Amino acid sequence: MQTVSNDPVAAPRPAGGFSRRRLLKLLGAGGATVVVAGTGALSYRVYDTAALGPGRGDAYDPWQHWRETPGLLGAVGAAVLAPSPHNTQPWGFGIRADGVDVYVDAARDTGTVDPFHREQHVGIGCALENLVLACRARGLLPTVTLLPDGPAGPRIAEVAVRPGPPAPSPLYDAIGDRHTNRGPFEATAIEPETLNELADRTGADDVEVRWIADPAPRAAMSRLLIDAAAALCDDDQQSRDNFAWFRGTNDDIQRYRDGLTLGGQGFGPLMLAIAKLLPASSRADGDQFWLKQTTTVHTATAAAYGVLTSRTPDDRATQLTAGRLLERIHLAATGRGIALHHMNQVTERIDRERSTGAAPAFGPRFAELLPRGEQPLLTFRVGYPVRAAAPSPRRAAAQVVR
Ligand SMILES: Cc1cc2nc3c(=O)[nH]c(=O)nc-3n(C[C@H](O)[C@H](O)[C@H](O)COP(=O)(O)O)c2cc1C
Repeated sequence: MQTVSNDPVAAPRPAGGFSRRRLLKLLGAGGATVVVAGTGALSYRVYDTAALGPGRGDAYDPWQHWRETPGLLGAVGAAVLAPSPHNTQPWGFGIRADGVDVYVDAARDTGTVDPFHREQHVGIGCALENLVLACRARGLLPTVTLLPDGPAGPRIAEVAVRPGPPAPSPLYDAIGDRHTNRGPFEATAIEPETLNELADRTGADDVEVRWIADPAPRAAMSRLLIDAAAALCDDDQQSRDNFAWFRGTNDDIQRYRDGLTLGGQGFGPLMLAIAKLLPASSRADGDQFWLKQTTTVHTATAAAYGVLTSRTPDDRATQLTAGRLLERIHLAATGRGIALHHMNQVTERIDRERSTGAAPAFGPRFAELLPRGEQPLLTFRVGYPVRAAAPSPRRAAAQVVR
């Protein structure tokens, strides 16, 4: 689950009595005309949230400079643009003369939302895929070894490189345009052949890609996602752990350069500017907004769902491989103008039930939608987007090199 909510004491309240809380409620209810009044306090919010310059500042610089930086530092610059759960960016890199060591930054986790660190390792797998693509583009032929020190060892992966001919690729070219799109999608189906072409399973024998596009299973998947979102909102600790990664002010975005932002929630430009100007809403309001978006936008406009499954979902190497495959799918979709939105609340509830010993409610329901014996690792929706998604903040390569 990843949602929008905010620190209730973060900002003064503008005159006029309209709040981000109310806006989120109205948006959740299907949209509304919003009148914003106020002078002094509102000007402060213009500065504080950078409402008039969305996606600007140092926190967004890594999206500008990843191509021109040569060598392995440039390849790490591409790696940090990968998706990660809640934009935690749970990675660290060690650059050697002949390669890159990849580490997990264990402290950058989402607590009870990802109790077994499955998503954390998938996110590192996504970064690893970008790293490999960027090495090839720079004439550095990569050889990847997963978990070179064993499952409990310090290194998550080793990428050894030797000189070769530069080999850019369409996937590499899409790295700077790939964003998670949480906005509405068009009511246009995606052809089954197109869906199948998105997934290059090279080296991913332990991971399958299942597309859920037919109306009946798609409706069942939608219901499951809505129910899981509701269960997450009702789970106080999961809601809190989710909220911890929301960055509600421009100061916080520029300071931390990670986490979830209003700019990543799929609003149109006018609504985004207004939402940024209004005072912060509470965690509970954010949860309700997310639940409404899940119901009225995310599931209502999904052309198809993709599910990465495995018979060994707890295996760390499988999770890294799934991340690499997920990133290839996202980049291939980007190159074809198809939007992708990661939606993992069902597996987050499955893991939560496992970690607390609760009776499994979501596992059996998801199993009904998948081939026997395959367990879900990751879920996302795809579709042709109504509007482009915005970049999210990133720590620069130099900040994550050890
Ligand atoms: C393993 C994984 C799980 C994710 N789960 C969700 C999710 O459940 N809901 C969501 O909206 N985004 C999810 N995301 C997307 C991240 O929030 C997103 O990648 C991050 O905020 C950075 O934004 P970007 O992808 O636009 O660069 C997930 C990403 C990864 C890699």
